[in-house]
Amino acid sequence: MSIHSRVPLVRTVDEITGSRRLRRMRKADWSRRLVQENRLTADDLIWPIFIMEGENRREPVDAMPGVFRMTVDLAVAEAERGAKLGIPAIATFPQIDNALKDDAGSEILDENNLINRATRAIKAAVPQMGIITDVALDPFTSHGHDGILRNGIIVNDETVEQVTQAAVLQAQAGADIIAPSDMMDGRVGSIRDALDATGFQDVPIMSYATKFASCFYGPYREAIGTQGLLRGDKKTYYLDHANSDEAVREAEQDLLEGADMLMVKPGMPYLDIIHRLKHELRVPTFAYQVSGEYAMIEAAAANGWIDGEKAMLESLLAFKRAGCDGILTYYAPRVAELLKQEG
Ligand code: PBG
Repeated sequence: MSIHSRVPLVRTVDEITGSRRLRRMRKADWSRRLVQENRLTADDLIWPIFIMEGENRREPVDAMPGVFRMTVDLAVAEAERGAKLGIPAIATFPQIDNALKDDAGSEILDENNLINRATRAIKAAVPQMGIITDVALDPFTSHGHDGILRNGIIVNDETVEQVTQAAVLQAQAGADIIAPSDMMDGRVGSIRDALDATGFQDVPIMSYATKFASCFYGPYREAIGTQGLLRGDKKTYYLDHANSDEAVREAEQDLLEGADMLMVKPGMPYLDIIHRLKHELRVPTFAYQVSGEYAMIEAAAANGWIDGEKAMLESLLAFKRAGCDGILTYYAPRVAELLKQEG
């Protein structure tokens, strides 16, 4: 500044703003609270949990510090804890023994498979907890795909038949919401028909309507033990992450076929999609803050690069602001605990 003389304001700030001063409402905690537009509560949370065979055991998921794979008995205890924290629903994901996997994912059609046993046990012990079951073949196939693989192709219609049967078995086991996550064409309508025909008219479908081909699912594959199994990628059925009109078309199609709720997955890199779906389609809209998003926040926090707790809260509130009615998040118990302490 030494050689230049000071540059005076040409107009006063009041002239520039027309005397509108947006900082007025931000000046104190009470006024910030008063004008806060979005809030996060335990009611917004869905807790995804990983289930494995055995008894009274849990194993850490390396890429997801603080997250464990657990046996059914411990999952029941966690569901009890979740209910006490006010979390409305859990979503269950199984780690299936490799010996039970085949090319068609046949184990999904066993009414006593791990996921259906977990549903029965949780429902019996904690009936007030909503249970959302994922309908997709990937935990059950030897190749890690969500569909039946034949000659290098994921065959759509046969996969639809398979996931439709599986959905009915899940409803029979007591699942409260069926969540098809395989992205096959026609699966929502087919599952709706089958649920209606078997007495489950009141079981809603939460469609993983816009599930993008994404690198952010990496740690989940470690969690359910499909890491390294996947042959190729999932681009022939998951959405291209370059597209958003296509995402709206997918969501519209699922609604026409009978979906009650939509989900966007992954979450944070796709807030624009959440916003479009909520505002264009006006139905209950959820986001899945996936394993890779959780891992990124945890890794940065562990290095002292960001404040992990603040990042958790900010990321979850961002989903609300974008238009979400609820969020599937591995942070569910931690954040519910925090909200309870504050509340
Ligand atoms: C597949 C499925 C995936 C996730 C849940 N169900 C993705 C995949 O393996 O391709 C990912 C969840 C996460 O990353 O947290 N049906």
